[in-house]
This record gives sequence, structure tokens and C-alpha cells, in this order.
Amino acid sequence: MSSVEIFVDDKSLTVNKDGNLIEELKRYNIEIPHFCYHPELGIDGNCRMCLIEVKGQKRPQIACNTPISEGMEIYVSSELTRSVQRANLELELINHPIDCPVCDQAGECDLQNYYMKFDLAKSQMKLKNKVTKGKKFYYGKDVVHDQERCVLCTRCVRFTETVTKTKELGLQKRGDESRIIIFPGRPIYNRYAGNIIQICPVGAMTSKDFRFKKRVWHLEPVESICQGCAKGCAIYIDHYQEKYESDRAYRFRARRDDKVNGSFICDDGRYSHHQENENRAKAASYEYPLYQIRQALEKHQSKCGIIVSANLSTEELFFVKTLSVNYETKLSGYSDFCIGDDGDDYLIQNDKASNRASLDLLDIDASLATYQEILQSCEYLLLFSQGEPNADLLQDLQGKQYDAISSHNFADKEVIACKSFSEREGHTINCDKVIRKMNQAVSNNEVLSTQEIIEKILERKLSFAQELLRGFDG
Ligand code: SF4
Ligand code: SF4
Ligand code: FES
Repeated sequence: MSSVEIFVDDKSLTVNKDGNLIEELKRYNIEIPHFCYHPELGIDGNCRMCLIEVKGQKRPQIACNTPISEGMEIYVSSELTRSVQRANLELELINHPIDCPVCDQAGECDLQNYYMKFDLAKSQMKLKNKVTKGKKFYYGKDVVHDQERCVLCTRCVRFTETVTKTKELGLQKRGDESRIIIFPGRPIYNRYAGNIIQICPVGAMTSKDFRFKKRVWHLEPVESICQGCAKGCAIYIDHYQEKYESDRAYRFRARRDDKVNGSFICDDGRYSHHQENENRAKAASYEYPLYQIRQALEKHQSKCGIIVSANLSTEELFFVKTLSVNYETKLSGYSDFCIGDDGDDYLIQNDKASNRASLDLLDIDASLATYQEILQSCEYLLLFSQGEPNADLLQDLQGKQYDAISSHNFADKEVIACKSFSEREGHTINCDKVIRKMNQAVSNNEVLSTQEIIEKILERKLSFAQELLRGFDG
């Protein structure tokens, strides 16, 4: 990477010579409006929204495809740049229905934002003269298309051509007759279709699932990590607490992480907020169940076994290990039930355990032999899980004396509720050994975290140990 000095509105900046001007300036919080350029889909040069004044050039140049050179001088807020931006916005809005009040994208729409920031001109187009197009086409899976709002940037088409290679979408006709269409009999059914909605810069591709559920400015985005498989894609959890209702996630969105998932996530992960919201275990009283667990651990001693799922955070796994060391119980992190066969060569992994690498890090035995030995020899079992445990594991536990500390209800078991993944923070290590932090999004003061539960179980033991230590100090 070679750095060069350029001048932006006469201000000297150091940028990467081989970088893209839009991205390089973004690092300095300088925004160049654009529709068709996308970091994962590359340059297409069709929207002309990124035109800027470049010294020495007769006409404005598109920033997305202007090579960076030493000493180049560009003007991102000169009168010439602003006038081409205004002209472009006028063109985009000629036939636009201006239905922002009922558009799901309002509040996060590039067209709306650019108009407010760079234009604010009155429309010269009479409403009756606008070219009308189709308003609500169901294009398959979760995707609903509005032709009138489309700025024809072709991001959606290029996504299906270059990322999923499924090619369900195409651009038809020219001028104000242009439309994005699906090919006859070929609705969108690929496993990454939700990204089409997210990369559309305007409200032309909206989500059937999210439509009219919540205005986006109410949502609070929190950075987290998808727990759907071992890839651990970076996501935003957009959550909100409605008056008189409990806090909940309204959607998961892809968050850019060039080391892991780029700008995209799969649909299983994207729509897993439903699972996260539904069926979350509710805390009753902790006092008696935790007392019972403590009694059982003390009574059965070495005949106790702990089984922990590889979906817990690294911190939670550490606490589970501490519990097993304190009570000298056997511990198994066997999670091979979670290995499926639906992975692909892009993001989706066969391994549905999100934090298996932390078992290695904490030296937690994940062998089948130890798991089977625990099942056969232990009189009492304690299960820790995030989400519903795998059906095969539940089958193995049938008829055994066991308690479960879990974020989700399952089968007919009365579980001891712990905070679920969107409700607590912690770290996770993905299949490529990348460690990242999940932040707490949804608030739930009624339920304890796994750590807090273990601390409570260990309370007496720890206070006993603290007494001992105090004795030593004295
Ligand atoms: S539907 Fe959206 S992503 Fe596709 S061309 Fe239109 S504006 Fe671009
Ligand atoms: S690929 Fe795996 S981690 Fe990524 S979004 Fe899908 S389920 Fe989640
Ligand atoms: S972003 Fe440069 S032409 Fe569209």
C-alpha cells in the first residue's frame, strides 16, 4: 500500500494510492454521495451521483472510478460539484413517487438523505405527469420490489450475478421505461436474498418480514455477532422497547467486517431474531432451583457431570469450567450434534456451534468418549446451553436426572432461565480463530446471566474460600 498526498477542497490528506476515492475520503468523514458503487460489488459507473470537480479536467469526474494520483486536487463541495449533485438528484426525483411517509427505508434512505443534504429544491414536475410503475411486486423469499422508488443502480442485479451467482434479477428496457425484473418463473430463492434488501440504497427493495413494523429511527442498533454457525458474521441487532412491552430485536442486519463476512450475511442468520425473541426462557425464582443444584452437586460429588454447549461465550465457558473445577465434576463440551451438512463455500458453515474454538482455548474436553462416559457413569447432570439444545442431546438426556440452565425453553423441561445472546455481552471465537465481542442489546433485568447464576451456585464455596484466604492474611 503506497500513500500519497492529495488535496480535497484545498486541504491536504494522505490516502492510499490504490484505494477507491469514495472509501478513502470516508475514512476522513468526507461523504461523496453515491448509489451504484458498493465496496463488495465494485464500480459500475451508472448512477453519476458521485461526480466531483477535479482540477485539470474539463468536466466533473465520477469519484468511484477516478484513479488517485500524487498531488491531485479535487473539490467535493465546490459550486460545480454541488450543481451536478443537484442536477442528478432532480433527475432521480422526476418520476419518484415521494412516498417517504409510507416507505420503510425512510430514515436510512440514501436518496432522502442526499436530497436533504445537497438539494432541497422544489419539484418542477407535476404529479400528474410522472411516469407510474408497479408498486408492490413479490420477488421471492422476503423481497418486495417497488419499481417507482428504484434509482436503477443495479446493485441488486450485480449481487445476484457476482455474489450468489444465481442471476434471478435483470434490468429491462431503457430510459423511464427501465425496470428491475425477475426472470419469468425464477423468483429469488437463494440463501443470501436478504442482502438484496439491505444493499438497495433506497426503498425499492423492502423486507416482507419488516415492512411497516417499526420506523427505523426508533431502533437502536447494537454491534454483535451472529450465533447461527461457526462463521460468526458481524451483525447489528436493531432493538426497541415499545411502551408497556418488553424490549425486543426487530431485525438483524449485516455489519461490515472485512476479516469475516465482508458486507453480507446469510438469511438463516438474518432472520434468527425471531427465534431469539420467541421462546426465550422466563425466570421464575432462582432461589429454590439454585439451592437444588447446589445440593445435587454436593450430594453426588464425583458422580456429577456438566455438559456445556459450544454456543456459550468465552467468558461463560470459563465460568462453567470454574464450576466444574470447584465441585470436581466431569465436564464435557461435546457438541458434534451441531455439525450439519448444509454449509457452502461462502459463509454458511456445517458447524452450527458458534464458539467451538473457545473449548480448545479453555481446555474443555469435547471428545465423544468423555461425553459418553459422563452419560453412563454420572448420577446427576447439569446442562448449560444458549438457545435450544440439539434434539440428539435431548434424546441422550431422556430418563436422566438433570437440570438445565438455558436461554430458551425446550421440550417439557422446566429450565433455569439465563440471559440469551442478545441480552448479554461476551466474546466469541469463530472457525477462522477471529475473536470478537458481542454487546448487550436487549435489556432484561428479570433474568440472570450464566455468570451470575454460577456465581450464585458457588456463593457458599467462594465465601468459604474467601474466609480461608482472610485467615491466611491474618
Ligand atoms: S432495486 Fe434498489 S438496488 Fe436494485 S437497482 Fe433499484 S435502487 Fe438499485
Ligand atoms: S453464515 Fe453463519 S454466522 Fe453468518 S449469518 Fe449465516 S448463520 Fe450467521
Ligand atoms: S457511484 Fe460513481 S457512478 Fe455511481
